[in-house]
Amino acid sequence: MALPLRAVAARVLLAVENGQSLNQCLPPALNQLPPEQRPQLQALCYGTCRWFHRLDGELGSRLKKPLRKPDRVIHHLMLVALFQLRFSEQASYAVLNETVEACKALDKPHLTGLVNGVLRKAEREGAPEPADDSAQFSHPVWMVEKLRHNWPEDWQAILEANNQQAPMTLRVNAKRFSRDEYLALLNQAGIEAHATRFAPHGIQLEQPVPVDRLPWFADGAVSVQDEAAQLCTTLLDLQPGQRVLDACAAPGGKTCAILESEPALAEVVAIDESAERLPRIEENLERLDLHATLRQADAADTGHWWDGKAFDRILLDVPCSATGVIRRHPDIKLLRRESDIAPLAGIQLGLLEAMWDILAPGGRLVYATCSVFGQENHRIIQRFVKQNEQVKLVTLDTDWGIDTGAGRQLLPDPDSHDGFFYAVLEKPEP
Ligand SMILES: C[S@@+](CC[C@H](N)C(=O)[O-])C[C@H]1O[C@@H](n2cnc3c(N)ncnc32)[C@H](O)[C@@H]1O
Repeated sequence: MALPLRAVAARVLLAVENGQSLNQCLPPALNQLPPEQRPQLQALCYGTCRWFHRLDGELGSRLKKPLRKPDRVIHHLMLVALFQLRFSEQASYAVLNETVEACKALDKPHLTGLVNGVLRKAEREGAPEPADDSAQFSHPVWMVEKLRHNWPEDWQAILEANNQQAPMTLRVNAKRFSRDEYLALLNQAGIEAHATRFAPHGIQLEQPVPVDRLPWFADGAVSVQDEAAQLCTTLLDLQPGQRVLDACAAPGGKTCAILESEPALAEVVAIDESAERLPRIEENLERLDLHATLRQADAADTGHWWDGKAFDRILLDVPCSATGVIRRHPDIKLLRRESDIAPLAGIQLGLLEAMWDILAPGGRLVYATCSVFGQENHRIIQRFVKQNEQVKLVTLDTDWGIDTGAGRQLLPDPDSHDGFFYAVLEKPEP
């Protein structure tokens, strides 16, 4: 018999606790449920991850001792129920009854008494005062501390923004429509939207909609892309005839944006190390009727893939902690460890060094991350500039972001863009 919705949700959360991302473990779980229950599963999993550290603190205080490892899925089942009690409109008797049924369906009938008792008490007593900042802002302790240290004035606003639902933002394909033309099409389709403030081709929707409701989506009129991600293309200052490298390209959002914004480029080479993710670039290019040269490779291993012709422009959108996009991927709070950051910084600097070597004299490199930690951002750039006298660090005189002294930082904004970092480096002519 098929598992009930909240039992499936508990298993997804257990998988996240064991290191899988929601992107990995949610799609197969969604397929186990009838279509009408899928949006609910998505909402339960995202919501419980978003509030995990708050709810887990409460549940911990309500349990006399932690559940045994083989029963851990029931811990997650109770978190899902607490999420609904604290953050949804669902009637509490339904939450309690269905959770007890799900406990049986998960083959743990001996725990139904415990589940019932804990949830009844939680319902009666209401939410406790959060014990500390980790519970208050629902982030792991190390992240709260690192953000407090990195952003003494903004850390609370960042944590709060991370707990909001992100808006849906589009990039209009400049080859097909102007932004005003597409805004008019949306208006005709009854979809409320407005132009983004900083990205020239961006449109933010008042409410998310399935992409198939967007006019001409399948024909490549628009792509879904956050405003912060769109700004990378602007910084590249693309010109006709240039050879461009997108060094960490999958799923290809920025590769496509590059090709749309300057149709007369000589060539765009898009590289990604992940064989799994590379086909996503192909799909996006196809929908938008664009062409790039694709390679699966470690971009830093230039001896393996590079043909010896230098690039006029390089976009280096490095792998990072993704702490600027937590509101879109709340599972990052559970997946990321403090010990991940130093190795990531090592990879980021290594990629930057390798890409610099294949940048043409007079060329420009844009280094970007969706991180809000200085360790992956301006400190990488400072280290690189210090060890390489030839590098010209371009001052970004923009009306957005915070000047870090070595690049510009956008913090996540509850009303608009994600958190992102950008630095622009130029190689002088000999
Ligand atoms: C931030 S994501 C890129 C997002 C992409 N630029 C976009 O806008 O759609 C980072 C990507 O880097 C890839 N990656 C990680 N290490 C790499 C390496 N050494 N060489 C090439 N790609 C790498 C990952 O597989 C991942 O797809």
